[in-house]
Amino acid sequence: MNLNIAVLAGDGIGPEIIDQAKKATVAIAKKFGHKLSFTEGVVGATAIDQTGNPFPDETFELCKASDAVLFGAIGDPKYDNDPKAKVRPEQGLLAMRKKLGLYANVRPVTTFPSLIDKSPIRKDLVENVDFIVLRELTGGIYFGKPQGRSEDGKTAYDSSVYSKHEVERIVKLGIEYALKRSGKLMVVDKANVLATSRLWRETAQEMAKDYPALEMDFMFVDNAAMQLIQNPGRFDVMVTENMFGDILTDEASVITGSMGLLPSASIGLLTSVFEPIHGSYPQAAGKNIANPLGTILSAAMMFEYAFDLQNEAKLIRDAVEKSLEENYVTEDLTNESPKSTSEVGDWIENYIKNN
Ligand code: IPM
Ligand code: MG
Repeated sequence: MNLNIAVLAGDGIGPEIIDQAKKATVAIAKKFGHKLSFTEGVVGATAIDQTGNPFPDETFELCKASDAVLFGAIGDPKYDNDPKAKVRPEQGLLAMRKKLGLYANVRPVTTFPSLIDKSPIRKDLVENVDFIVLRELTGGIYFGKPQGRSEDGKTAYDSSVYSKHEVERIVKLGIEYALKRSGKLMVVDKANVLATSRLWRETAQEMAKDYPALEMDFMFVDNAAMQLIQNPGRFDVMVTENMFGDILTDEASVITGSMGLLPSASIGLLTSVFEPIHGSYPQAAGKNIANPLGTILSAAMMFEYAFDLQNEAKLIRDAVEKSLEENYVTEDLTNESPKSTSEVGDWIENYIKNN
């Protein structure tokens, strides 16, 4: 198979972790006889520095022309404390999501047995955690208009906006996932307060009628935030709007012991994007210490979702699991002679070559 992959490394630790995912991808392509090409594009702060635009048209064209996008991370502290900055790296990520129509962000949360002791949550509560959050990614308060400041600058506003169509397509995906798993779908909203949430709930309820095998439940987001800690094992497939999904997936990521481990797939109308859920970790940039496993697992999701190559995806996951078992890991996961980012990448690469 021909695999034409756009690589957007982005900012901070992005380039270092992306290098490891590329090594794993090359090893897989060699092993299974696929023809691979990587084309690099700029995004985020790096793109602002070079072009003034955090998601340049060239990068957009590259994404459209590729079969999949492998994405590192975005964000640079030099913009964070400057409320007057005209462009921000994060706008590049948002523009990419909007322009590629990536309305669904799939974030699986699974526990790795060898990491259970790293979880801040009691072992018996975490042991069998295995759920998926489907986060809506192109609507809600992230994109709603109007957004801005009053003329005197003393009032600011954001708007949360959803159309029925936007709700339907993401809930439909949630239903499909649920029916492939336990048959249960949890719709998370704030319907006791928000009009958009009431549209979500009404739309989801209407849709549920067409699926007799489906058990649809609803939960307010504040309650969901609590239950994720109190009893994470009760969740299977959760679907929610953009901002709630952003917050709940950061929370969910620590349940498993390391945020550095969670991959994600953003899928929608055009080319899909695969990226770790963590950020650009600027304090670690260039130090070769960041955990590359979230990005490597995102490459596994790429084989699964973009190319429907399940054995390839599985071999990457096996490699990651083995590296954890052997405690061949970066410093976020061990105090005993932690390995560097590239050493972990080499280990995964070799495992793929030899297995
Ligand atoms: C994420 C990130 C982004 C978001 C930021 C960097 C804009 O937190 O992908 O979860 O809020 O969506
Ligand atoms: Mg986030």
